[in-house]
Amino acid sequence: MQKIKTAIAEKLANKIKADFPGAEISGRDILSMFEYPPDPEMGDFALPCFKLSRSLRRSPMQIADTVVSGFESPELSRAESVKGYINLFVSNDYIAKKTVGDILTLGDDYGKNASGEGKTVVLDYSSPNVAKPFHLGHLGTTVIGHSLRRLFEFSGYNCIGVNHLGDWGTSFGKQIVAYKLWGTKEMIDRDGVDGLVTLYQRFHEEAENKPEMYDDARAEFTKLENGDPENTELWKWFIGISIEEYKRTYKQLDIEFDYYTGESFYTDKMPAQVEKIRQSGILKIDDGASIVDLSEYNMPPCLILKRDGSTLYPTRDISAAVYRKETFDFDKCVYVTSAGQSLHFAQWFKVVELMGYDWADRLVHVPYGTMSINGAKLGTRSGNVVWLKQLLQMSVDKVRGVIDEKNPNLENKEQVAEEVGVGAIVFNYLSNSRIKDISFDLEGALDFNGNTGPYVQYTYARCCSILGKAGGFDENAELTLTDASESTLIKTLSRFPEKVEEALSQYEPSVITRYILDVAAAFNRFYHDCQILSAKDESVKNTRILLTAATKTVLGNAFGLICLKKPEKI
Ligand code: ARG
Repeated sequence: MQKIKTAIAEKLANKIKADFPGAEISGRDILSMFEYPPDPEMGDFALPCFKLSRSLRRSPMQIADTVVSGFESPELSRAESVKGYINLFVSNDYIAKKTVGDILTLGDDYGKNASGEGKTVVLDYSSPNVAKPFHLGHLGTTVIGHSLRRLFEFSGYNCIGVNHLGDWGTSFGKQIVAYKLWGTKEMIDRDGVDGLVTLYQRFHEEAENKPEMYDDARAEFTKLENGDPENTELWKWFIGISIEEYKRTYKQLDIEFDYYTGESFYTDKMPAQVEKIRQSGILKIDDGASIVDLSEYNMPPCLILKRDGSTLYPTRDISAAVYRKETFDFDKCVYVTSAGQSLHFAQWFKVVELMGYDWADRLVHVPYGTMSINGAKLGTRSGNVVWLKQLLQMSVDKVRGVIDEKNPNLENKEQVAEEVGVGAIVFNYLSNSRIKDISFDLEGALDFNGNTGPYVQYTYARCCSILGKAGGFDENAELTLTDASESTLIKTLSRFPEKVEEALSQYEPSVITRYILDVAAAFNRFYHDCQILSAKDESVKNTRILLTAATKTVLGNAFGLICLKKPEKI
């Protein structure tokens, strides 16, 4: 569709220039003015003439009437002037041939674009805090971040995924105190991160009555900072255990990182940046702490060094950004975190700018809303912690139950349960605009008849099954379109490339999720209205099989962008 729109825009611009001598308008201008009418009866896309009215000195109605008269193009079946709009109707035959041809020849590459060629993007996402639970709050950054990575890759960018683990700070002092008091090697070897969390929670319980334990924790952390061998070894061990467990979850989600460089990685890189901040003349001492005053920008000060000289979260982020710029020469560095951290990012992005780095405007924060489960807010302190791995397991178990009941002889039952169970959670999460606060409901996410992951995966499997039974088809045969649902399906399929661009420009994977639902709905309508394998006419039958193959390709490519697996049978 995008190509057609571009071609039509060019032709309309030429027509306007011919109709209104002296008019200065380009195809690009026209392209940016196109709108989608609310009702398909009013055209596939439309040019509102209101904006043109001033420069052409005619009413929108007059402009639309004049331009439409005598305007023709092979891509269009007609163009109509209605109340100041030029409504454009794409020729079904043209679009069908072009779209289906493109999809079948391009296959896995259908929908890709080259806008990012030669550019590198660093994506900082997931980034859980080690020694604290990887709870559901991190689901958002993990799946949004990875989906953005796939979208960037699909658009030709070279992508670098960094897991900026929270692996440094006083919480490790607490962890070490707790381990030395109550932990054993056997227990941690056996229970992994769960064991670490139990110890961490016990620290907080007991410290409530013994506040001096916080001093002990600070002392242990200072020892760690000074390179004490015993503490360093414990710290490394805790991190190793945590990463190992995270990797199991990432594997389930089909996610990989290029680097697990957590906050501690930047320890030796910070002094130089603190010095640079000082030299820029923006470092102030406030009550013993070093800060950058941001009142001029309506923000609270950015804290750089505590009173005791230790560094803070922003200091590490600033150093990490400089390191990444020097190492990867990124075109963009994208951070995905909860909206609760928006101020933090705005503050240190500003500091980077004030330090004189001209790439400060290439730092992008992508925030997302909070998630509650069946209405209950999640939080480490409220005791309402749900671990991601538990939720994934619950979902997989439920899907296994459905399969046992409905299709007990399915091959690869375990794998399918895993792919559909995990997919349900991911799809549900990514169905909402990321900034919205959402309430999660597992039953709803698993409903095979709702707008869910299982429903769209089932649609994909349906395509596979039809193609399996069809045995083969003639890719080059002319299309014979006889039913309106066929044209609607093709038009929906043709929108994929522009949906990819839209999703990336807004950093919004839900554009893809919603698009997948549109494709599934259009395909299921077609499936319901048309006989495919039992169609009498050979050419009609071949066309319908081609449409099924094209749908499978588009769904598959779109699934890839939101980390949804493609089971061929459910
Ligand atoms: N570890 C942090 C958290 O769990 C997120 C880190 C995000 N990335 C960053 N560069 N600050 O809240």
